Amino acid sequence: MMEYELYNEDFLVAVNGIEDESIDLVIADPPYCLGKDYGNGSDKKPPDEFLQWTESWILAVIPKIKKSGGLYIFATWQFSPEIFVFLKKHMIMINEIIWDRRVPSMGGTTRKFNSVHDNIGFFVRSKKYFFDLDPVRIPYDPETKKARTRSIFVGKKWLEIGYNPKDVWSISRLHRIHSEREDHPTQKPLEVIERMVKSSSPKGGLVLDPFAGTGTTVEACIRNSRKCIAYELNSEYCEIIRNRIKKATTQAELPFREQIIPLDHCSAALDGGGGGLFGVRKPDKQ
Ligand SMILES: C[S@@+](CC[C@H](N)C(=O)[O-])C[C@H]1O[C@@H](n2cnc3c(N)ncnc32)[C@H](O)[C@@H]1O
Repeated sequence: MMEYELYNEDFLVAVNGIEDESIDLVIADPPYCLGKDYGNGSDKKPPDEFLQWTESWILAVIPKIKKSGGLYIFATWQFSPEIFVFLKKHMIMINEIIWDRRVPSMGGTTRKFNSVHDNIGFFVRSKKYFFDLDPVRIPYDPETKKARTRSIFVGKKWLEIGYNPKDVWSISRLHRIHSEREDHPTQKPLEVIERMVKSSSPKGGLVLDPFAGTGTTVEACIRNSRKCIAYELNSEYCEIIRNRIKKATTQAELPFREQIIPLDHCSAALDGGGGGLFGVRKPDKQ
């Protein structure tokens, strides 16, 4: 069952409408305070204001996560220290993942080392968090497998089904030649988001993306049988998401349920003025 909801809303305003402890996984790729142009000034706040805003959406989203659930948050080296320290006061930190964007070596600054990574924090609500390594193991290539034929390795599960991807993910950022690329300054590769979805949410579980951009999380959920609820401020990006959903559902030959809420009037279009597809949105006040 592939189901999703898309809201063209400010997440910080909309978050109160989500039921507490209804979400299996949050994948948050918020503005970074680097001055990127998302058509709404959201990445252009002064640092203090940005950190205050970050803390307020984090505090608002945590109660929405199930006790077995988790949260991935994308950050940059400039602000990850403050954000991770804040999150550690409210959740358990499991990993800092370094996403090496495989930026080609082409000059750049001579005053410091070029920055080519994102800092991704993985946090959970309790020690009983959901985590399934098997779907994201990386298979050994035949040569390495052959080299590990010593008797102590024979029959080892890890040798058969692959190894742990570890916490440095070397996956190319998107270029124009990549077919998944859309017109957005900071779109994330499906490969990165799918690893989070597959390892950290159960099949059929509900994933929340508060800052959906081009809808990479929504597509990852469609492709991997998870439900998804997504928020995006920019209506043009919402249009990209709608198209991506259509393409993904057609390609995968999956049933397409036209459950995307009309972008200009999303709240009014919900069942009885509220409820939503998963019933985790509380009815809107009339
Ligand atoms: C880093 S981008 C997300 C990119 C996305 N992960 C992808 O792969 O396309 C952040 C997005 O958050 C959106 N945004 C900023 N503030 C928001 C808010 N308060 N509520 C909802 N969306 C917001 C921006 O318009 C931008 O598209």
